[in-house]
Amino acid sequence: MPFDEYLDWMEEVAKECFRVLKDDGSFFFNIGDKPSDELRSLRVAERINKIFRLQNTLHWVKSIAAPEEDVNIGHYKPVNSDRFLNNCHEYIFHFTKQGDVELDKLSIGVPYQDKSNIGRWEKAKQDLRDRGNNWFIPYETVQSQKVHPAMFPTKLPEMCIKLHGLQKGKLVVLDPFAGSGSTAIAAKKLGCYYVCFEKDLEYCRIAEGLLNEAMSEQEANRLIKPLYSFGIS
Ligand SMILES: C[S@@+](CC[C@H](N)C(=O)[O-])C[C@H]1O[C@@H](n2cnc3c(N)ncnc32)[C@H](O)[C@@H]1O
Repeated sequence: MPFDEYLDWMEEVAKECFRVLKDDGSFFFNIGDKPSDELRSLRVAERINKIFRLQNTLHWVKSIAAPEEDVNIGHYKPVNSDRFLNNCHEYIFHFTKQGDVELDKLSIGVPYQDKSNIGRWEKAKQDLRDRGNNWFIPYETVQSQKVHPAMFPTKLPEMCIKLHGLQKGKLVVLDPFAGSGSTAIAAKKLGCYYVCFEKDLEYCRIAEGLLNEAMSEQEANRLIKPLYSFGIS
């Protein structure tokens, strides 16, 4: 659809999400850019910010290369252009109602590289620090038999849910654009309720299949807690 229409539509989506979100809830909005239009996602975020307050901007880093440090990992899709760099990240905008939701940063924390920091700073009581806003999450290997063109790794919604805070009580996770159900799978793994919408019946079937698969894996691992699922509609 034309971009201006898309902006209006996203504002409507944001209004509806605001309506159903708890006052201390989080709204994570994932959007990727076209290399030829790097301002697109920021313009969408600006529009959503009319409804919500932008609390954090995260970068989902899909591939990272620092050969000098012996690092070169993740998904790389060559760009057919001499003008644009390969786009190796997508945005996750974290919106809340007032911009003041306390997060469980250490639930996705990382160990200190310099252990002498532990105890030196008042906040550094254990070997775990805030991961920051660059999240390196490569695609899962299942991408070789991709069942949805825009699937994200389940680790991405898992980290968002954990960051929001599993200790806040049993969470209800809602995804209005469920696709292959990655968010529902993450929610289910973490023992949350989930509600998903997807307009394409074929993707609903795929999501249900992947959810069942994920559930049987969990059962096999004896990790599962009894869950009540609203399912995919
Ligand atoms: C970018 S994909 C989401 C992929 C998902 N994150 C995953 O990991 O599979 C967006 C999905 O939204 C669905 N969609 C688009 N418009 C919709 C609408 N009005 N209501 C419900 N679903 C919609 C599309 O069919 C598509 O599957």
